[in-house]
Amino acid sequence: MKKRFIFLISILVMQGLVGTAASKEEVSSGKLEIFSWWAGDEGPALEALIKLYNQKYPDVEVTNATVTGGAGVNFRAVLKTRMLGGNPPDSFQVHAGQELIGTWVVANRMQDLTWLYNEEGWFDVFPQSVIDTLSYNGGIYSVPVNIHRAGVMWYIPSHLAEWGITSPPKTLEEFYATCAVLQGKGIIPLVVGEAWTTIHLWDEIALSVLGADDYEALWAGKLSPTSPQMIAVWDEYGKTLDCTNLRDNATGLSWQQATDLLVSSDAAFNVMGDWVAGYLSTTLGLEAGDDYGWADFPNTQGDFTWLSDTFGLPVGAPNQQAAIAWLRMIGSVEGQNTFNPLKGSIPARIDAFEQAPQLYNKYLQYTAQEWANDRLVGSMMHGVVANERFMGDFNQVLDIYIQSRSSTAAAAGHTSGAICQLAITPSVCSGSHALTTPRPTGQIALSFGAIRINIAALSDVSAKSPAP
Ligand code: GAL
Repeated sequence: MKKRFIFLISILVMQGLVGTAASKEEVSSGKLEIFSWWAGDEGPALEALIKLYNQKYPDVEVTNATVTGGAGVNFRAVLKTRMLGGNPPDSFQVHAGQELIGTWVVANRMQDLTWLYNEEGWFDVFPQSVIDTLSYNGGIYSVPVNIHRAGVMWYIPSHLAEWGITSPPKTLEEFYATCAVLQGKGIIPLVVGEAWTTIHLWDEIALSVLGADDYEALWAGKLSPTSPQMIAVWDEYGKTLDCTNLRDNATGLSWQQATDLLVSSDAAFNVMGDWVAGYLSTTLGLEAGDDYGWADFPNTQGDFTWLSDTFGLPVGAPNQQAAIAWLRMIGSVEGQNTFNPLKGSIPARIDAFEQAPQLYNKYLQYTAQEWANDRLVGSMMHGVVANERFMGDFNQVLDIYIQSRSSTAAAAGHTSGAICQLAITPSVCSGSHALTTPRPTGQIALSFGAIRINIAALSDVSAKSPAP
């Protein structure tokens, strides 16, 4: 009897009928649509993952659907239309944190993957701090494929040497001094690109000026946006923008094109996430440490602004089993070590890097150490601490600020007035507005403080209407 039972099990195993829900045999045909913003220059790491999937599931037809545009700025609008129109992809890219939870999970648009975490033993291999940002009301809603670092100053060492700059600036004061030297030589001290890159920069200035405790207090609604500390943030932000190409060609530049200006020696520094390392090494073939260098953003030494790209399973995913097999694969050691060396990120799984550190270049080895030792703070621009509604509002505040500092500020009287009403920076209100406009109204305080409160509102609104 026992022999017959073992024989039966062996036959079932051979036929693939025993095993996990998404074993190879159960997804031996069909389709899978992966939806992300990793197009073109950003594509190689994702393409490697899809290739791995094709090897494991050769009869599944995978569609690599992308919407171009750094940080998902264009992608998110298309995703929202699809999700709300009842046409979800099988799996889509979404940042860990409020972008996932405060946008999609609270709106009941994602499936709980707790069972998958249990089956794969993932509760033991992903850091608890990351798991927390994927969890809501006892469920867990996506699988992290990487950890990116946001607050890095990239540069080309040989160029700095030519310009007589012995080391990257460690404080904002040093940065402004370096800025003056570079401007004197006709070099852009700090390159920025399209709008989101200036928000990315704001995040780092905020961390630099506030320090990690106050930065976190801000997102927890415990530091007032009208506090003297925050006014200092905006003032330093303004000074930093004066060291950029914002008024020249910035809006037309993708983050890759902005990075190209470092390589062509038109610009000295770029404050950007470590997808830049992926671009410089994987796409341009440069050597980390020799051909390009990196430093912590001034005054943020010991802090690590983190974010994570994750994939989830939307409610109504058309090819459920194929999507589960995808999630299993990207969460595996093999998947993480296929993706991350090309992407310029480190694995979210603790054991993946440990098992194959030699796959990672000098920059990634360095950053893996920092991830283990630094104080971790979540990125606002890349979804950890703010949901999409907040990001939309913040974008407008930044626009107003940027416009009000320009020579067109006078013409834009209302906008300039609005920012003074919000009282986030007296320095832009030094003209007539400062005297004629009542302050403060606390509106921004509401915006900042309401991230979590907004979540509840969003669940209601996002179910009915597309993103603003
Ligand atoms: C981030 C994303 C990165 C990279 C970057 C530039 O938001 O997490 O993986 O794609 O945008 O597009």
